[in-house]
Amino acid sequence: MAGIYIETYGCQMNEYDSELVKTILHENHHDLHGAEEDADVILLNTCAVRENAFNKIFSRVGNLKHLRRSHKVKVGILGCMAQNIKNKLLENPNIDFCVGPDNYRELPELIQKSLGKTKNESSTRLSKEETYSDVQPTREDSINAWIAIMRGCDNFCTFCVVPFTRGRERSRSVESIVSEATQAVKEGKKQVTLLGQNVNSYKNGEDDFCTLIEAVSEVKGLQRIRFTSPHPKDFPDHLLHLIAQKENICKQIHLPLQAGNTEVLTRMKRDYSREEFLHLAQKMRKLIPGVSLSTDIIVGFPGERDDQFEDTASLMEEVRFDSAYIFKYSPREGTYALKHYPDDVHEDEKKRRIIKLNEMQRKHTTESLSRMLGLECEVLVEREETHLSKEQCQGRTDQGTTVVIPQNGSLKCGDQVRVIIKDKTAHVLIGELIS
Ligand code: SAH
Ligand code: SF4
Ligand code: F3S
Repeated sequence: MAGIYIETYGCQMNEYDSELVKTILHENHHDLHGAEEDADVILLNTCAVRENAFNKIFSRVGNLKHLRRSHKVKVGILGCMAQNIKNKLLENPNIDFCVGPDNYRELPELIQKSLGKTKNESSTRLSKEETYSDVQPTREDSINAWIAIMRGCDNFCTFCVVPFTRGRERSRSVESIVSEATQAVKEGKKQVTLLGQNVNSYKNGEDDFCTLIEAVSEVKGLQRIRFTSPHPKDFPDHLLHLIAQKENICKQIHLPLQAGNTEVLTRMKRDYSREEFLHLAQKMRKLIPGVSLSTDIIVGFPGERDDQFEDTASLMEEVRFDSAYIFKYSPREGTYALKHYPDDVHEDEKKRRIIKLNEMQRKHTTESLSRMLGLECEVLVEREETHLSKEQCQGRTDQGTTVVIPQNGSLKCGDQVRVIIKDKTAHVLIGELIS
């Protein structure tokens, strides 16, 4: 039995996968409770989506060198970097083994081998079937249960490494997902977040995402359902009506835009035009009153001219997203864009563009928060104290906005309370309990 310490980077799917890994290792009698300093093996569950994700891991591996020397700790790389650049990782003398996202069942064996000898090993064969649907995750969050409903992505957006690190799309059965959600409620969870690299492309036989989310919404005692990350191409009207009608499906949609110019979208292979995206966003706002829309945007995609960038800015003005994650384009190994489109927008120009959009988004986020002032809403308590004060607790609205409220001494994680919004900061609402 070895002491294992696991650190997770990247998206929520990685968070969930780390929970699966914990179960797999626990079943093999490893101890997962110790601190980093006491571990025999340190696992880094990594992301490959942008260059800075790589840099973070290489510097972390460098930091761990002393533990390898002094305590003979083994270092294993899991996740998307392991899949994407395994050969480069295995050349690194401070990395002992690599395991890709579809091979976690082989981890106990690789750990065993690494403890016995020093040679680097890897297991990174992508699977067409692996969904881990029979592995119950080891959950640590007291409120939310992540549930992966599908894995992989077949879209091959030209900038994106995910189809190469996560492989082909495959979905679990409705029954296994509903049973996992039911189990989560039994364990006291109030919310499930359905996960997939392309979550609304879910397809299992005749069952699509609408069938699934409707079935999950019937789970007794489940207060909130969220899902991420969806693709704009898979939002039939029926799904919007379901979100509007079902009380426990949260009125919060992440709608990744990437770019607001149709020619750029075509070269990104996003499958929608500027007009189609606008139409969808407007329809969401109309059919789902009060819906909160967030997005992802890339600036400086190869060949993006200034006027094309301005189209993204003007689309943001029009939609007024409640929040947005804005990234500079980062060329990725294996992608179509890396092979065919030179990364020709200068770094300074990418910087100018990201600053401009972040500036705009700050205004839109402020507007969105300001609209809540004086209103009443339901808040699900997620933390009994904030990092700033023990006299405050923290939760979220249905739309996913964080609300800080005074701790009256009896508020517990999982309580759902009615709050009036009194004030706001840059990203957070300040509320008061309505007695
Ligand atoms: N499945 C998700 C994407 C996951 S990656 C989806 O389709 O929305 C999360 C975000 O990272 C993407 O939406 C995109 O905005 C950004 N991203 C992906 N590849 C990138 C790259 N090569 N450079 C910069 N940003 C990128
Ligand atoms: Fe990447 Fe596009 Fe798939 Fe999202 S939909 S994971 S951006 S290839
Ligand atoms: Fe990163 Fe892999 Fe998720 S590349 S965003 S950890 S699917």
